[in-house]
Amino acid sequence: MTPLLETRGLGRAFGALQAVADVSLAVQPGELRAVIGPNGAGKTTLFHLVSGLLAPTSGRVLFRGDDVTALAAPARCRRGISRTFQITSIFPELSVLENARVAVQLKAGGNFRLVGGRGVLDASARRARDSLGSFGLLDRADALASTLPHGDQRLLEIAMAVAQEPALLLLDEPTQGLSPEDTAATVAVIRRVARERQLTIVLVEHDMDVVFDLADRISVLHFGELIAEGTPSEIRANAAVQTAYLGGLD
Ligand SMILES: Nc1ncnc2c1ncn2[C@@H]1O[C@H](COP(=O)(O)OP(=O)(O)O)[C@@H](O)[C@H]1O
Ligand SMILES: [Mg+2]
Repeated sequence: MTPLLETRGLGRAFGALQAVADVSLAVQPGELRAVIGPNGAGKTTLFHLVSGLLAPTSGRVLFRGDDVTALAAPARCRRGISRTFQITSIFPELSVLENARVAVQLKAGGNFRLVGGRGVLDASARRARDSLGSFGLLDRADALASTLPHGDQRLLEIAMAVAQEPALLLLDEPTQGLSPEDTAATVAVIRRVARERQLTIVLVEHDMDVVFDLADRISVLHFGELIAEGTPSEIRANAAVQTAYLGGLD
């Protein structure tokens, strides 16, 4: 089967610092892949390279077998790659519904003006509501995003990405800063939405309970390099991973 996402020798240097080094990985359709590694290992940079926010200094990104390395982030989004950020990235002064609608319209980019008119607005509102419903946020559609509790703001950001109806969803530390209760609820909703929408997910996560609970396979980054990959039980038993982690988890 052609992987949904593949990276080949992917690298990114910042001056003398090699933040991501020669990373080759393949994510199959429907998979839930976790990327773990100590703070500064290059996880967020890897997401920037896959989503097109940063250009690599070496290597390639393939999506559905097509080389998308030269495409900017909006074009990759239109192909089916959506993401969230480690730092919550919503529009606090817009309503919950407006946030989701903006996400849908960002994906459409300039194109939505071509088809234009009221039908497009209705369609984007419908997708936005549909996604908010999946995340239990529909009853607060008209609330300002800034008034949501932190956990719901994190969920809103995931709902915005899902409203774009991606094939591949990249989640950068979705449970960061959440209470144990909110973490459990977020894990449950990610699992359900992934199944309902047949999403392929790559998730950066520091909470090992979440990782071992959710992931089909785990990739381990250390100083930018992929040092291990396998099922949760394989990773748990991997000596190199345990050594890399003696310095503490991100
Ligand atoms: N824009 C940048 N300019 C310079 N160095 C950066 C930049 N972004 C990230 N880095 C560095 O690259 C390394 C990897 O960072 P990052 O990908 O954020 O790691 P992680 O998400 O695993 O904590 C770190 O040493 C970080 O300081
Ligand atoms: Mg990071």
